[in-house]
Amino acid sequence: MTTDAPGEALEVEFREASKRYPGAERLAVERLSLDVPSGEICVLVGPSGCGKTTAMRMANRMVEITEGDVVIGGRSVRERSPSQLRREVGYVIQQIGLFPHRTIADNVATVPRLLGWNRERTAARVEELLALIGLDPELAERYPAQLSGGQQQRVGVARALAANPGVMLMDEPFGAVDPINRERLQNEFLRLQAELGKTILFVTHDIDEAIKMGDRIAIMREGGKLAQYATPAELLMAPADGFVEDFVGADRALKRLALMRVGDVDLWQAPLAHVGQASGEVRRKLVGAEVPYALVIDSERRPLGWLSDADLARETVPARRVASADPILDVGDVMRDALSDLLQAETQYAPVVDGGGRIAGVLSVEIISEFLSSDEALVEEHPAAERPHA
Ligand SMILES: Nc1ncnc2c1ncn2[C@@H]1O[C@H](COP(=O)(O)OP(=O)(O)O)[C@@H](O)[C@H]1O
Ligand SMILES: [Mg+2]
Repeated sequence: MTTDAPGEALEVEFREASKRYPGAERLAVERLSLDVPSGEICVLVGPSGCGKTTAMRMANRMVEITEGDVVIGGRSVRERSPSQLRREVGYVIQQIGLFPHRTIADNVATVPRLLGWNRERTAARVEELLALIGLDPELAERYPAQLSGGQQQRVGVARALAANPGVMLMDEPFGAVDPINRERLQNEFLRLQAELGKTILFVTHDIDEAIKMGDRIAIMREGGKLAQYATPAELLMAPADGFVEDFVGADRALKRLALMRVGDVDLWQAPLAHVGQASGEVRRKLVGAEVPYALVIDSERRPLGWLSDADLARETVPARRVASADPILDVGDVMRDALSDLLQAETQYAPVVDGGGRIAGVLSVEIISEFLSSDEALVEEHPAAERPHA
């Protein structure tokens, strides 16, 4: 690995890294050890003052390490010069930190210029990055204050990506954005990361954001101590201790729904019917069926609507149905969203379709509640000592 070829995602390892600020009585970070495999997002989460920012800044030596080490791509950060670290480790902060008197293009060009890239190479990179974050090229010559908060945040990400670093540090990057835009930015960023595959250290104090964004989560507690390092699912199923359990919250079974897709569970099957079909046939299929209602589908197997008893009293399945098929869910929908769709529609059952819109099965409130109770049981049955670890 030469320093002239950044861009490849690098593994980040904290090796008993500690920080004591000058004059401070106690450690801000205490013997932190964790491995972040290359290409993964590791979220550092915990209450305010627990040392998240300090830990993260040890990785690019904005904070000098008191004891222990941080190793990036097999090499200690202590062996790297500040300019190497600037190139290899991108940095995004909550306050966005765009230079107000420089244009968007100039902001994004900051690191390439520090690195002495020529004008053409820099301009080409800026153009490429603005396209990557989906910013209208016309905005390149505007100033930060002329952009929305969400747009500024995306520019902050573009600036950190400018030298194509292998590692990104993101300190509460969406903290200053309103909840609706935050969700959009999170989704956008996850899509971007699916393309880029950077190694990312991501700081937040919000456990829901951690669960959504993290491949792995490091929960920290007061005094810069690591409470647990695990995947989101492990954390929700088997919190290491009372602190983690409290921090994750009482509704962790519900939070697990955020990690699942509708297609991950065994869906039920409803009797299917076609317009014009003899109702007697449909009524026979309903005897002992998993879903006690028949679903009308078209010739492409797309759901059209549910049949009522009155519909079935007629001789054939009518073209005009009383109950619509809404909400129609997709196998790719996040389970938590699917549950809220069901609850909002005040319905027990919803048809689930595949990518082509064809019926794949039926999701019921009961399937979800069975999952939630079995999940609770799972946690009860496995005492902490027997839980699998990452
Ligand atoms: N520059 C500094 N000088 C002295 N103490 C600091 C400095 N930065 C942070 N601290 C202290 O270190 C601890 C951890 O802070 P920080 O890493 O900012 O926590 P977090 O990001 O989790 O809120 C806190 O007690 C904080 O007061
Ligand atoms: Mg902080």
